[in-house]
Amino acid sequence: MMDRCFMPVQISKHVYWVGAIDTNIRDFHGYETRRGTTYNAYLIMGKKVALIDTVKAPFKEEMISRISKILPPGEIDYIVSNHAERDHSGSLAAVMEEIKPQKVFASRTGVRVLRELFDLPGELTPVNDGDKVNLGDMNLTFLETRMLHWPDSMITYLNEDELLFSQDGFGMHLATFERFYDQLDPAILEYEAATYFANILMPYSGLITKLIERVVKMGIPLKMIAPDHGPIWRGEGIGRIIDLYQKWARRKTTSKGVIVYGTMWGNTELMARALAEGMAAGGAKVKLMSTDAFHRSDVMYELLDAGALLVGSSTLNNHLLPSVADVLTYIKGLRPKDLLAQSFGSYGWSGEAVGQIEEYLKAMKAELAGEGIKVKNRPGGTVLEDCYKRGLSLAEILREGSAAVRTGD
Ligand code: FEO
Repeated sequence: MMDRCFMPVQISKHVYWVGAIDTNIRDFHGYETRRGTTYNAYLIMGKKVALIDTVKAPFKEEMISRISKILPPGEIDYIVSNHAERDHSGSLAAVMEEIKPQKVFASRTGVRVLRELFDLPGELTPVNDGDKVNLGDMNLTFLETRMLHWPDSMITYLNEDELLFSQDGFGMHLATFERFYDQLDPAILEYEAATYFANILMPYSGLITKLIERVVKMGIPLKMIAPDHGPIWRGEGIGRIIDLYQKWARRKTTSKGVIVYGTMWGNTELMARALAEGMAAGGAKVKLMSTDAFHRSDVMYELLDAGALLVGSSTLNNHLLPSVADVLTYIKGLRPKDLLAQSFGSYGWSGEAVGQIEEYLKAMKAELAGEGIKVKNRPGGTVLEDCYKRGLSLAEILREGSAAVRTGD
């Protein structure tokens, strides 16, 4: 019965969306996906029929069911694997087994990675940057996008429909039954696209800038950008998402400070609040984020344009709190640039956490604003006043000199 309900959606003259909608997923290796996601696959109805990407393994039947409304899946001639990660290739082996395509195209690295990941029931055909495949009446052009965001990644352009299959790029984790961006709330779109960029693409910002420059220089007309997650961009949306990607890739910092902290009995929290009050009084925008209340993905979203990162932790058994180590490990991997930084924390007897936080911050190449602020037990005396003043001074640095220098203004 359900099989009859899965319908394809025609998105251009020759292309149908035949992907899957996953409303339940909440974690993408550490990235909290509160709004679920889609695994987009596309069917190109040329004289030769091509399937662009597949879906995560449990969703194979949903995709096959949508394809079946257009043609018997066994009539698909080619599969293009733009990206070997399992959310797009997890069903590839089973799909190859079922439809027996003449050819499966992937980048040279993609061929190797797919072979390493799966026992595939057929050969793969490697393609190079700029290679074309003729569908009889249409042409596909492949562009390698190494490390965006895996070494195998590539994107595929359908010349006749002026449509770019952009794989993870320009995507977002957003499960919807609408297929186009202009059917959705713009505020949600921008938030989810930014969260996706911050949590997945930020380390490769330089490559994104170069890729956009390359595509612009090539002068290829674009009527649509069809990513592997979330809605499809068309019309004015194309310029909008490209502008946003250029802005995020530049990571132009603002006078925003993100204060992340973990606290055992509230003492480190008092310090965090005093720092926040000082920063706000100094004219900075402040995001105060307890690790009990905010997910690491939320912190990354805020760091997309933040100029400062302040991190606090109590010391537990000679270490920083596990929740603070978690968020610091995550941030370090995503490599936000040009951060002004400050560590702080209360301790009972040994107080290692503040120094350990500083090691993380140095590894991120953040600019330490001053010595870590440590206090034994209750932040008495002038400690909270000192925190407030440090907040004021951080805000001043952000507002005036340092932020402008760092962003090249
Ligand atoms: Fe959506 Fe990198 O996989």
